[in-house]
Amino acid sequence: MGNVSIVVGAQWGDEGKGKWIDILARDVEIVARFQGGNNAGHTLYVDGQKVVLHQIPSGIFHEGKISALCSGVVVNPSQLLVEIKKVAAFVQLTPERLWLSARAHVISPWHIHLDSKTETEAAKPIGTTKRGIGPTYAEKANRTGIRLGDYINPIRRQAWYESLSHTTPKFAEHRKAHADQWQEFDQAAEALAPFVVDAEHMVRAQIKAGKRALLEGAQGALLDINHGTYPYVTSSETAAGGAFASLGFSPKSIDKIYGVAKAYVTRVGSGAFPTELKDKVGEHLATLGKEFGATTGRPRRCGWLDAVALRYSGAISGYDGLILNKMDILTGLDEIKVCVAYEHPVHGRIEEFPWDHEILSECKPIYKSFKGWTEELPQGGKISDMSANARAYVDGVEEILGYPVSMVGTGVNRQDALFR
Ligand code: GDP
Ligand code: IMO
Ligand code: MG
Repeated sequence: MGNVSIVVGAQWGDEGKGKWIDILARDVEIVARFQGGNNAGHTLYVDGQKVVLHQIPSGIFHEGKISALCSGVVVNPSQLLVEIKKVAAFVQLTPERLWLSARAHVISPWHIHLDSKTETEAAKPIGTTKRGIGPTYAEKANRTGIRLGDYINPIRRQAWYESLSHTTPKFAEHRKAHADQWQEFDQAAEALAPFVVDAEHMVRAQIKAGKRALLEGAQGALLDINHGTYPYVTSSETAAGGAFASLGFSPKSIDKIYGVAKAYVTRVGSGAFPTELKDKVGEHLATLGKEFGATTGRPRRCGWLDAVALRYSGAISGYDGLILNKMDILTGLDEIKVCVAYEHPVHGRIEEFPWDHEILSECKPIYKSFKGWTEELPQGGKISDMSANARAYVDGVEEILGYPVSMVGTGVNRQDALFR
C-alpha cells in the first residue's frame, strides 16, 4: 500500500471538497491540486472565518504542510497572486511551502477573452465560468500554449507572444487594445518566478522518502472531459485517473481514493440534470444549502441524490469510500428521495449512466423514498451517532451504490464530520 490518497468531486462540482481536504490534510505532509484552474471555488472556514480558494490547495491552513500545483493544472498568474495575498492574514506562503509546476499551463488574458467570446456567441452556451479554462487546455492540446516554466522566462514569454501574433492576428490586436491586462500579466511572472519548480519530481521524491500526499481534485466526475456529460463538462480530467497523469505517478502506489458527494445534487451552468427540482424541496435545498457558486455567484440548480450518476462516478474513479456531505441540509424534510434508475421514453428503464447527453436529458428519475428526520445531526463523532432515520438513509444509500459511505458532513466547519 502506498502513502498517497486522492479526493475528487463525485458529482458536478461544489460537493464540499475544500472542507474535506482541509480535514484530511491533517494526516498528510503534502496536498497537491492535479487539474482545473480558478474555475474552482473551494470553501473552508479558518477560525470561524470563511475563505474561498480557487487555485491554492485546500490544505494550506495546516502549519508546515506543502502545497503543490501539478502539471494538469492551469494557472491564472495574477489571480494566484491575489489569492496568496488573501491568505496572508492566516499563512505566509513561501517558495518552501508552495510549489508550482513548471509544466502547468498558463491562463492569459487572451484565453479569458476567447472563453467569454465563445460563450456569448454560442447557440448553446456551456455556461462556463468564463475564466479562460477551455481555451487554455485547448491551446495545451494544440501545443501552442505557454507553460509556467516558460512564462517566467521573459525571452521565452516574448517568443510566445510573437509566435501567437504570427498565427493569430487577433491576438496581436488584443495585446494592443488591452495593454493594461498584459502589463499585469507580465508583472505577475516576476512575482511568481520563485515558486516555479519541477513540482512533480519534488512531490515524487517526498513520497519516496515516506511522506504522505493527498491529491486534490477540482470540479467533479460528471464534468470530466472524457467521462462527463460532454459537451457540458470542463476541459480537464476530473476523475481519479487525472491525478496519476498530472503528477506522473503509478496508480499501483495509491492508497485510498475518496469521492465527495452532496447528500443531494447541485449543478451550475447548462446540461442535463435528471433529478433537478424546481419545487419547494428544490427551494429548501438551495436556501438552506446556500447554493450559490463560490466562484461566479450564480445560483446552483438543486435536486435529489442521483445514485445512477454516483454508481458511474464510483466506477470511473474506483472510490474506496464516499464522503456524503451536507447531510444537515436534508434535516426537516418529511421525505427524502434517491434516484435508483432512469425511465426513458424509448429505451425504458436505464440503470447505467448514458454516454449520450441527449438521452440523459430525456431521462426521468425512478425514486426510492426514505423517511426524513427532524433531530439535529451530531457535529463530530460517528455515523452511528445519528438518529435512526438518518442512519437508515446512509445505509440505504450505501446499499443502492454498492460501495461504502465512509464519512458524513453535517456542517461547514472542520469538526462537522462523522466517521465510520
Ligand atoms: P467545493 O468546490 O467542492 O470545495 O465546494 P464549495 O466550497 O464550492 O461548496 C460547498 C459549500 O457547502 C460551501 O459553502 C461550504 O462551506 C458548504 N459546506 C461544506 N460542507 C458542508 C456541510 O457538511 N454542511 C453544510 N451545511 N455546508 C457545507
Ligand atoms: P469546484 O472545484 C461547479 C462548471 C461550469 C460549467 C462547466 C465548464 O468548485 O467544484 P469551465 O469554466 O470549467 O470551462 O466551465 O463546468 N464548473 C464548475 N461547477 N464547481 C466547479 O468547481 C466548477 N468548475 C467549472 O459551471 O458548467
Ligand atoms: Mg466549488
